[in-house]
Amino acid sequence: MALTTGAGPGAAADWTAATAPGGLPLLGHLVPLRRRPLEFLTSLPQRGDVVELRMGRRTVHMVCHPDLIAQVLKDPRTFDRGGPFYEKTKLLMGNSLGNCPYADHRRQRLLVQPSFRRERIATYPRVMREEMAAETANWRPGGTIEANDRMHAVTARIGARVLLSTDIGVGHVDRILRGLPIVLRGMYKRMVAPVGLVYRLPAPEQRRFDAALADLRDLIDSIIRDYRGSAEDHGDLLSGLLAARDEDGRGLSDQEIHDQVMNFLTASTETTATALAWALQLLGRHPDCERRLQEEADAFAASGGVDSHGRDGLDYTRQVVNEVLRLYPPGWLVTRVVTVDTELGGVRLPAGSVIFYSSYALQRNGELFPDPERFDPDRWSPERIGEVPRGAMIPFGAGSRKCIGDDYAMAETTLALATIAAEWRLRPTSDTPVHPKPRALVGMGDLPMVTLRR
Ligand code: HEM
Repeated sequence: MALTTGAGPGAAADWTAATAPGGLPLLGHLVPLRRRPLEFLTSLPQRGDVVELRMGRRTVHMVCHPDLIAQVLKDPRTFDRGGPFYEKTKLLMGNSLGNCPYADHRRQRLLVQPSFRRERIATYPRVMREEMAAETANWRPGGTIEANDRMHAVTARIGARVLLSTDIGVGHVDRILRGLPIVLRGMYKRMVAPVGLVYRLPAPEQRRFDAALADLRDLIDSIIRDYRGSAEDHGDLLSGLLAARDEDGRGLSDQEIHDQVMNFLTASTETTATALAWALQLLGRHPDCERRLQEEADAFAASGGVDSHGRDGLDYTRQVVNEVLRLYPPGWLVTRVVTVDTELGGVRLPAGSVIFYSSYALQRNGELFPDPERFDPDRWSPERIGEVPRGAMIPFGAGSRKCIGDDYAMAETTLALATIAAEWRLRPTSDTPVHPKPRALVGMGDLPMVTLRR
């Protein structure tokens, strides 16, 4: 990667193209991609700005330079969402914001965006803090929790209330908590199954998947029906979707709303839960950072939360969240399909080519972040933030398809950490390092932690 060339889009001569090492005759690079994808992909930016790989017989390109990634993300017409991976998500979320092609995206984004405006999500912090406080009320001093599971449960509860219905009953939330993990697991297996095969889960798992999905769908439909019947604005995201109108005054159909809700539930729960679990394990191993976070959390708890200017004083906590998202960006691999013959970084890409970038590899690149493996929340302090090269930190993507839930996710993770830190210290039960497990997200396995009251 040549950061000092001043190369930009179009300055093809300055870019370096390379082929990934170690390709095998029929398999190409499938072996390292399956066995150690994070290490493999993280090693590629030092080879070139655009690196060619083979997945079996298919050639794909990894875009490594931040300026070229920006070029891709800012041109969604040429580099569109699509490909077999996104096709498979249609079973769950139809043609909704997260997986629709360029042709449908503008209308959908215009309709959905108002539901994520700050005024509307202003009510969400109350729900987020309430749910986190309800979660920690069950912890015992000196007890052990499975922190990864607990964070998944709490973000699913928050998601159910904020996205679907703030007035949702306990029974409904339980149905979501039961069904969502089964559906997400089944979907993941389908998504990574070889392209071209009609994939079916083993019979008992398939039955559980079908039943969980049907139940989730029934629940969402019944809530949409109730909301349509009452015409009241409940202040939640679903009310926002029902009220949305496009430039021609047309709203979203019930099916479209259903698909968007599915999209939000699946996109919001695991991402924020995974980020929180990584934050807890990193803080548990960095008591100095934890102490600074606790000081802020104490001041936050004492002041009663957000002031009249919308300030919460949780600046260091946000630095911690940023550093967690740098090291473990849940959406670690982002793909695009090329729609017309084009060129990127001097590499010719015919229509139909698949390209991708990895925020995990980008954000651990030593040329962009000194000492990249170190957990150092002060990289995001006002004094040092200017040192971060443009386009080097993109855990939420960029351009017109940037994550619509970025403010929501930042609010949820920041408030959750502050709520925990005000009363608890969490410590890993063993010194064994926790290794990332790249699946649909960069997650981890079990994370047993001891809950110590401060
Ligand atoms: C830490 C938490 C999160 C991370 C790291 C994350 C990451 C991302 C990334 C990288 C993208 C862009 C993918 C691409 O360009 O192909 C994206 C898109 C999206 N995210 Fe998130 N996300 C998070 C939380 C959420 C939440 C809380 C919601 C909903 C409430 C959400 C809903 C979406 C949707 C609907 C899109 C598609 C946007 C579009 O295409 O216009 N995400 N997210």
